[in-house]
Amino acid sequence: MKESKVLTPALFRKLLDWYEANKRVLPWREDADPYHVWISEIMLQQTRVETVKGYYLRWMERFSTVQALAAAKEDEVLKAWEGLGYYSRARNLYKAAKIIASEYGGKLPADKALLRRLPGIGEYTVGAILSIAFGMGEPAVDGNVLRVISRLTADPSDVSKGDVRAAVAAKLRPLMPQGETSAFTQALFELGALVCLPKDAFRCESCPLIGECRAYREKRQGDFPVKPEKAAQRMEERTVLLLECEGKYLVRKRLSKGLLANLYEFPNAEGRLSEEEVRAFLSSLAGEEIPVGMVEPLPEATHVFTHLIWEMTGYLLRLPAGQAAAPFGEDAAFASPREIEEVYSLPSAFSAYKKFCK
Ligand code: ADE
Repeated sequence: MKESKVLTPALFRKLLDWYEANKRVLPWREDADPYHVWISEIMLQQTRVETVKGYYLRWMERFSTVQALAAAKEDEVLKAWEGLGYYSRARNLYKAAKIIASEYGGKLPADKALLRRLPGIGEYTVGAILSIAFGMGEPAVDGNVLRVISRLTADPSDVSKGDVRAAVAAKLRPLMPQGETSAFTQALFELGALVCLPKDAFRCESCPLIGECRAYREKRQGDFPVKPEKAAQRMEERTVLLLECEGKYLVRKRLSKGLLANLYEFPNAEGRLSEEEVRAFLSSLAGEEIPVGMVEPLPEATHVFTHLIWEMTGYLLRLPAGQAAAPFGEDAAFASPREIEEVYSLPSAFSAYKKFCK
């Protein structure tokens, strides 16, 4: 992490003033009850504020305290979560509620190590609960906060690395003002949610920190946070053919260059071919008329390569006894299921179809 004099008490004073004037009215901001903070923070992970509002209010009507949650049936808890997704969050809330009810008299402990041990509570949630509910100087670094801080400091560190979160937390910790830790944490969330928006949606003209922001000064807001480049994945439809002749299946060697070079494959063609097109394709592949008997459609399958996704469909085609493999390619052979298992290297892209060779 690059050393920086950008993050100063004066900068955070501006941020806190901005927050006081601009903060949204949200149901979980009406008080600082640790149970309320905990439930809202778990709901807000992976889910938008607008969606969470309704769920949060219904939840608090149904499970108004830790004890009420702990005493509920798991099915009821999961029902209240229905539609929020990532159900392990709800299961962990329920498990943690039982622990808090039995071991801590229904009150969340104001202690980093004890909180951290509860199911579903990670570094981020610990920071949010301690700073918002208990007024303690422990930062909560989520994706919004990483974006804000990495832009302010034009930090070139890859934020997907675990130590960057810890490094940002270490920078923020000494800057958290006593008595205002809740506003400090939420002001960072708020700036990330309303102004310092992802990708190129930033609204720097509304930002109270515009004069201090290195990314803005360098006109490089879109470059931060630095994330590992995701390989662009192209989607390709393919039709895979199992050509069966006397209990054996046709395999052929792939080209010596390119994708899956030199490995064996079942004959396949680009596109989602109809039965009619499959018959025509086979004859053109072999350079002669191939008398196909029965044609059976096989299930669809997907294979994800680094840069490419195959969305496959398949057919099983029965060829008359005595059909030669040679017309299908120099290295083509009819292979028994055992040979396919043990002799020919068929890449896992074809696994879904290999299992029909029996
Ligand atoms: N995102 C995560 N925590 C939040 C909070 N307390 N308020 C608004 N947005 C949030």
